[in-house]
Amino acid sequence: MPTLSEKILRAHAANNAFTKGKQMRLKIDQTLTQDATGTMAYLQLEAIGIKRVKTELSLSYVDHNTLQNGYENADDHKYLQSIANAYGIRFSKAGNGICHQVHLERFAKPGCTLLGSDSHTPTAGGIGALAIGAGGLDVACAMAGYPFTLTVPKIMQVVLHGKLQKGVSAKDVILTLLGMLSVKGGVGKIIEYSGDGIASLTIPERATICNMGAELGATTSIFPSDAMTKAFLESQGRGQDYVELSADDDAQYDEQIELYLDQIEPMIALPHSPDQVKAVKDRIGMKIDQVAIGSCTNSSYMDLMKTAAILKGKRVHPDVSLIISPGSRQVLQMITDSGALHTLLAAGARLLECTCGPCIGMGQSPQTDAVSLRTFNRNFYGRSGTLSAKVCLVSPETAAASAVAGVLVDPRTVSFAMPQDQTSIPIDDSMILLPDHDLSKPIIRGPNIKPLPINTTMPNHFTKQVLIKLGDHITTDHIAPAGAKVLPYRSNIEKLSEFVFQNNQKDFYLNCQKHQGGIVVAGENYGQGSSREHAALALMYLGIKAVIAKSFARIHHANLINFGILPLLFTKAEDLESIDELDELQFHDLSQLKEGQPFVVYNATKKTAYTCTHQLSAHDIAILKEGGLLNYIRSHTDA
Ligand code: F3S
Repeated sequence: MPTLSEKILRAHAANNAFTKGKQMRLKIDQTLTQDATGTMAYLQLEAIGIKRVKTELSLSYVDHNTLQNGYENADDHKYLQSIANAYGIRFSKAGNGICHQVHLERFAKPGCTLLGSDSHTPTAGGIGALAIGAGGLDVACAMAGYPFTLTVPKIMQVVLHGKLQKGVSAKDVILTLLGMLSVKGGVGKIIEYSGDGIASLTIPERATICNMGAELGATTSIFPSDAMTKAFLESQGRGQDYVELSADDDAQYDEQIELYLDQIEPMIALPHSPDQVKAVKDRIGMKIDQVAIGSCTNSSYMDLMKTAAILKGKRVHPDVSLIISPGSRQVLQMITDSGALHTLLAAGARLLECTCGPCIGMGQSPQTDAVSLRTFNRNFYGRSGTLSAKVCLVSPETAAASAVAGVLVDPRTVSFAMPQDQTSIPIDDSMILLPDHDLSKPIIRGPNIKPLPINTTMPNHFTKQVLIKLGDHITTDHIAPAGAKVLPYRSNIEKLSEFVFQNNQKDFYLNCQKHQGGIVVAGENYGQGSSREHAALALMYLGIKAVIAKSFARIHHANLINFGILPLLFTKAEDLESIDELDELQFHDLSQLKEGQPFVVYNATKKTAYTCTHQLSAHDIAILKEGGLLNYIRSHTDA
């Protein structure tokens, strides 16, 4: 009867407590962090006060902030390396690859639970892991041995039939789903894939589909573990990690969708949202200025081999800059050995190191007003570093064919020889440092590593002004921007907070100081996008006490609770319309905040009241009252 996800959830339920729609405590086998979220996660791990991680396996990757224009990022990397060694964590050095690609290749296992401080952690669902993105503090708690609190999601079955046509890829499958379901379509759900169509999808292709389940808002996505999984693990020298896993034949799902792979076409997500999806054939001829192939979505060996096959014997169009970032050193080694790297360079591609790079706005910002075709997963406004750029998301095949033509091309109209996948893979883990747990070695804290801000307990009554009123789909990029100017301050919240909402309201930081904090109000899906807890932590630092929105993205909602910021929901759309910036909102008697019960907020300026709801459990409310999860854990040893 159970689905595949239910089997893994039940097997990992602390105290065997598992009820659909209720919160459960999930035992975590593996964790991963990346450097942009990791420094804060390890400062939090230190604050929790354990000596060594309690997980089966924990990895610290450096892949985001790898530009070293100043000392800041290098300071962060040294801190991460030294603390990983002290706490028993493996450390993947800058240049070894993007966390999700490397984790898929070397560590993720079918049936394991993986918690990562990166929203694309579900990439490992391609190998049958139950992999969830979370804030850094949740990951720190998992490393310290605390189960992860999760509302048991609904399970959506996506049944795949048939086989993809040549020129159509896994990216087009997930873009098709995004077009059908929108960026809210997966909220509160696990997406479980099945059907005869999965047999032909390789593990990296399955990983691409699971990767962008994050853009659907899903808790995670997962494929069964089958013969393809076994072959992949064996090729990685990890045959012993294989177990066969699938849903029972009569498994019950909450929702079901069927997709016929042979009917899927090349798709493109237009600016500025991954669900603005159209068929490529309806947009052909659109002029292209930049093409970027890489990211945790599409940087596998076969992604780059198909790119090379399309570019073979051709040149990148003179008006186009083509940039390629392999997902890992293993991928780079394989395209070098196969000769594909030579083909790419001969065609005029620019090669970047094996990191996130332009996906996180670390270099390669497009020119003013440019159209940038990217194989990435996000095209939010401003994320590329150029506000006027029009970033579109496509498959590697569409990207490569368009780089040659200088305009958008349907790759089905381009002739190329389909490359063969490799079964013999060069394995070199020499850039993954094993911890020696030598506590006599110092933890290195350069000047960029600032102390962790700690919240105070929540007052029982407070009155604050609305400092910003926002619309729908505000992303964590809006709240705490990415990009080369801001990312170096990920371990320096004092400095980072100066950039909060900088593209929405120039003086937000100054207003927070002037009014000693305040309230944020917003529309639907507030906080969508990355797992970065800085989007909550910096608000906490600035004195924001509550966010009232029409709805929240899952990870950001959890991050607000973790940092003691009250997340409430408007029950009537007109309530948000009636609020103006600088209105004074009163929160009376927080002791009356109870699970499943509404909470009334008074607008003292407009002399009206709003009956708000919330999604808070009794446990969440207890955390909020203590001023966040760190305070709560330190005062409850049984947390
Ligand atoms: Fe990195 Fe972009 Fe993925 S920042 S982890 S490549 S979403």
